[in-house]
Amino acid sequence: MHQPAAISLLILLTITLSTTTTNAHNITRILQKNPEFSTFNHYLTLTHLAGEINRRQTITVCAVDNAAMSALIAKGLSLDTIKNVLSLHVFADYYGAKKLHQITKGSTSTATMYQATGEAPGTTGFVHITDVKGGKVQFTPEDNPSQTDVVFVKSVHEMPYNISVIQISQVLNSPEASAPTSAPDLNITSLLQRDGCKAFYDLLSTSGAIGTFTSTVEGGVTVFCPSDDAVKAFAPKYKNLTAEGKTALLLYHGVPTYNSMGMLRSSNGLMNTLATEGANKYDFTVQNDGEDVKLKTKLVTAEIKGTVVDDEPVAIYRVDKVLMPRELFKGAVVEADEPAPAPKGAKKKKAAKKGSAAEAPGPGSSDGDSDDDAADQTASSGGKVVASVVMVLFMVVALL
Ligand SMILES: *[C@@H]1O[C@H](CO)[C@@H](O)[C@H](O)[C@H]1NC(C)=O
Ligand SMILES: *[C@@H]1O[C@H](CO)[C@@H](O)[C@H](O)[C@H]1NC(C)=O
Ligand SMILES: *[C@@H]1O[C@H](CO)[C@@H](O)[C@H](O)[C@H]1NC(C)=O
Ligand SMILES: *[C@@H]1O[C@H](CO)[C@@H](O)[C@H](O)[C@H]1NC(C)=O
Repeated sequence: MHQPAAISLLILLTITLSTTTTNAHNITRILQKNPEFSTFNHYLTLTHLAGEINRRQTITVCAVDNAAMSALIAKGLSLDTIKNVLSLHVFADYYGAKKLHQITKGSTSTATMYQATGEAPGTTGFVHITDVKGGKVQFTPEDNPSQTDVVFVKSVHEMPYNISVIQISQVLNSPEASAPTSAPDLNITSLLQRDGCKAFYDLLSTSGAIGTFTSTVEGGVTVFCPSDDAVKAFAPKYKNLTAEGKTALLLYHGVPTYNSMGMLRSSNGLMNTLATEGANKYDFTVQNDGEDVKLKTKLVTAEIKGTVVDDEPVAIYRVDKVLMPRELFKGAVVEADEPAPAPKGAKKKKAAKKGSAAEAPGPGSSDGDSDDDAADQTASSGGKVVASVVMVLFMVVALL
């Protein structure tokens, strides 16, 4: 390659690089600049709220300083309860300092992430914002109108109208959010026998594969259970498998880590399964598209259709198809199982193929990648572009 050509390619690549990495916000990074919020920041990560925040496009995070967090932690609440309390501090709307001081009629109420979780009974996941005399802005939980000590302190980070991080003086004290959550049910046998998973459970039970699921529960497990209809439709193919093949197929529907819907929605990439063992990869690709989460193998694309259980460390989701690992169905014809894709979907599919082609040559490309991509789609597709750009850069440098 001629040197000038190589140099202009380099310039072009540098431009591509800088435009693909600046999109999504990262609450962890934003708060890291302020050591006074380090405890709050730490708990956003521990409770997985950070990932939830990063994938939202219009959001306000009300941070409290380390002293206020110490008071909260001193109450000895479980991590699950702390998650509820902190999710009350994340508003599903944008409130910068200016907007807070110009609230129409002096008072408004906003839905929080606690409301969005469905854990909040009634409207207990709402927070009232009031402009009080003297330019103060006060925050009051819906279920604790007598709390008057939570006021706006300062703006920490504003990016209109995507993310606003503000400091408030105290933790919002909501009796509902701080109520003890019941201990999670770890009996996977009974959890899997719930509506919609019965046929899949029967297969687990008769094959003995249920034992692997049971022994994985405590460390966290995510089960993608094909609906009863999907299991029924798959029966001829299932019967055709050897006993070993049957077990591998069933284990392929479990992942040895807990994944909330929010975590799945904010990750794209390869996921190892309970069937993964050394060189037997048995992985599939998680691909999110807005609120939809799809699981793709080389042969089939299934979609999550509902949550059966989501109670850390156990998550069980209903999917509309049996996942077919390529390891078991070599040579099988790709099913024409997708509705005629709209032009937009077709484009996306192509882009995804390109992405995996770019990853393929790297023998070291690790399956852990998807965990790091906790941001949103833009961030992780950006990551892929960066990976391939870096590869091309190496080639250019080698040529020079
Ligand atoms: C806000 O989010 C939108 C949509 O993701 C994005 O296009 C825009 O660039 C973001 N704004 C800023 C200032 O980052
Ligand atoms: C789990 O649930 C099943 C079915 O409801 C029950 O038979 C079994 O005894 C339970 N196991 C434990 C350890 O409670
Ligand atoms: C079962 O396996 C045989 C032999 O491999 C194959 O010809 C047949 O199509 C399979 N049936 C189904 C339903 O997959
Ligand atoms: C956010 O920033 C933190 C700290 O810089 C980093 O460890 C983490 O990987 C970032 N997350 C994403 C999704 O980029």
